[in-house]
Amino acid sequence: MRLVERANAGGVDRRGGIVAAGVERVLPGDMPVTLVAGIDLTIGHGEFVAITGPSGSGKSSLLYLLGLLDLPTAGSIRIDGQDTRSMDAATMAALRLGRIGFVFQFHFLLPEFSVIDNLLIPMRRKGGSSLAAMRARAATILASLELERETDKRPDQLSGGQRQRAAIARALANDPDYILADEPTGNLDSRNGGLVFGILERLAREDGRTVIVVTHDLDLAARAGRRVHLVDGRIALAGAVGD
Ligand SMILES: Nc1ncnc2c1ncn2[C@@H]1O[C@H](COP(=O)(O)OP(=O)(O)OP(=O)(O)O)[C@@H](O)[C@H]1O
Ligand SMILES: [Mg+2]
Repeated sequence: MRLVERANAGGVDRRGGIVAAGVERVLPGDMPVTLVAGIDLTIGHGEFVAITGPSGSGKSSLLYLLGLLDLPTAGSIRIDGQDTRSMDAATMAALRLGRIGFVFQFHFLLPEFSVIDNLLIPMRRKGGSSLAAMRARAATILASLELERETDKRPDQLSGGQRQRAAIARALANDPDYILADEPTGNLDSRNGGLVFGILERLAREDGRTVIVVTHDLDLAARAGRRVHLVDGRIALAGAVGD
């Protein structure tokens, strides 16, 4: 059974996944700061990958690069066989909007909008179906995440766990193949953290999406299919969990 029914799984070129080759990100300045260096990483479709590492090791920086929220200063990132270096800003924005969903540690839901409107905003930006169809799909996603009674609430009227589930629901709004989450359980107690992590796990294992989660929690990371451990902006360990 799928957690959230795929709306547009057909017709998408699903070869390739995300391939980072020699990726480096250096902040320029009198004293350049290296955020990540020499990252070679291939993440295939349907994989559930945890990125771990000490604070400041470059986990968020790498996630933003993989998700096209930031650009490398050297190396390349390919998504489904497409080299993102040759893309203009509009093509990249469309790719992000339609194919990639982000979940952040601080939910970043828009506070003045209801939960369902937080899903409708990215849906409307992408377009392609009627408002009624978008509403129906948003309601289905919210129900899948057990938020059917929260649809009309504002984010400040939700519990922490509900807010993070709403953030995942928003990330799913445009039915992305890739879900990238930066410490999505960082502000939750262990029970809610486990629930939120379980949802991400199901999005990979049942829905076949590619899920990349940054986490400090090694117990949660052990549930991923693969772990990538960063130290000082480099991959210090990569392999199947339990290696
Ligand atoms: N705008 C910036 N200016 C200077 N240094 C920065 C900037 N952004 C990030 N850094 C540095 O880059 C390194 C990597 O940061 P990043 O946020 O990717 O780490 P992280 O592994 O996600 O850490 P945390 O677990 O604390 O979230 C850190 O040493 C950080 O201090
Ligand atoms: Mg971080």
